[in-house]
Amino acid sequence: MEKTLKQQYHLEPIHGLLNDPNGLSYFGGKYHVFFQWNKFEKDHSYKEWGHFESSDLISWEFRGSAIIPDQNYDKNGVYSGSGLVIDDKLYLFYTGNNKENCQRESKQCLAVSEDCKTFLKQGVILHTPEQFTEHFRDPKVFYSDKKNCYFMVVGAQRRNGKGAIALCSSNDGRQWNYKNILATTEQYEMIECPDVFQLGNSHVLLYNPQKRDNILDSSLYSFSAYKIGIFDELNEKLDFNDLDSAFSLLDYGFDFYAPQTFLDEKGRRILFAWMSRMEEEQEKVFSNGVSYIHCLTLPRELFIENNQLHQRPVKELYQLLGNDIPLIVESESIKKVELKESAFYLHIQDNACMQNVYISFHRGQTAIEYDPVKKQIKFTRKNWVANQAEFKTCNLEFLIEIEIWADNSSVEIFLNNGEKVFSSRIFALNTEEDIVLKGLTEKTIIEIKEIISK
Ligand code: FRU
Repeated sequence: MEKTLKQQYHLEPIHGLLNDPNGLSYFGGKYHVFFQWNKFEKDHSYKEWGHFESSDLISWEFRGSAIIPDQNYDKNGVYSGSGLVIDDKLYLFYTGNNKENCQRESKQCLAVSEDCKTFLKQGVILHTPEQFTEHFRDPKVFYSDKKNCYFMVVGAQRRNGKGAIALCSSNDGRQWNYKNILATTEQYEMIECPDVFQLGNSHVLLYNPQKRDNILDSSLYSFSAYKIGIFDELNEKLDFNDLDSAFSLLDYGFDFYAPQTFLDEKGRRILFAWMSRMEEEQEKVFSNGVSYIHCLTLPRELFIENNQLHQRPVKELYQLLGNDIPLIVESESIKKVELKESAFYLHIQDNACMQNVYISFHRGQTAIEYDPVKKQIKFTRKNWVANQAEFKTCNLEFLIEIEIWADNSSVEIFLNNGEKVFSSRIFALNTEEDIVLKGLTEKTIIEIKEIISK
């Protein structure tokens, strides 16, 4: 069988380039996932919002363009933003980007839909407050019961060239006022795609610190972080406003960025992220011969346990699991699985704590291993540009569960009930697959299943 990069059960564009998830919402009985889309090229030269719709979070319908850059204030890009149902309509907040003679202008904008088929632009709702440069974008809007108003957090850069998160508020979602700076960084030049929400009795802040060259106006590197604490809605203050200290990574893999969450009709806090941190050269080689690039992560439900954010695949995804794939026992501690497909589900549970576990797939190109002495997990994949192995690690006190969702060209690994996650694209060259499992005992429960197409 031909090896394919095309994903079986992840959201990816029909052609062109996808980046951030936008406007995540549940409206009119459907889940809506909008996304940053360049429908013309596999690069970042054009940005609009594309649209996917689903009634169950597993079968998705592509609905084409939702918001396109056709106004002066957004002509150089309909950038990222969020969605919220207000007065039975879906309000979509986004950043309109205008760049003339290398001068950047950012405007926070609104489009409203009654049916999720047409999206009517309402124009600019907020100009950049004087405290910030024009790196002011990615509005995330939510409702505050306590204050009985809408809040908007915006990723920003202060006049001193360092990053921040700005807070704005509104009584109706249309008239917005800038309130204050919620949090700052002295180490990063920009914060992209912030998100604040309540989870249990705490609040979670998701943010993406970005290192920039302010003179060249170019991005150097960035990653996704989170902090847990309290957002005092009445006083409009975060009790954890230093973005440089005591943060945790949201994901330990190679490809994860710009996560966004929403509350669904069942009260779940669900996250999607862009599954990429590829450099240009990686993008080029990865998508050589196909007309599309990048995908989103699986939808994940969030919860807090032991003051750590946990992510678990939403329960609907388990409907995708098909037949069991038989295990071949090679020796007491080595087991093997022969696979016809690259997409598979693997679940390993051992409440007595796993020791030196090693699992490899894609004929050894991709692997995960646990070192119980160092208390460390190591994930290895093959870098398709350098053509050699590269790895990422994270600390883990103990290991009782490994859950792997592999698609044709990605893998998401959830450890200990989603306490730590590794998300990465993979570029497997072999047409045949195998999984090798080492170091498991007879008490370990191993489940390997096919993933069916919906
Ligand atoms: C994050 C980001 C956002 C911006 C969008 C443009 O990946 O840079 O800050 O709105 O992408 O596509």
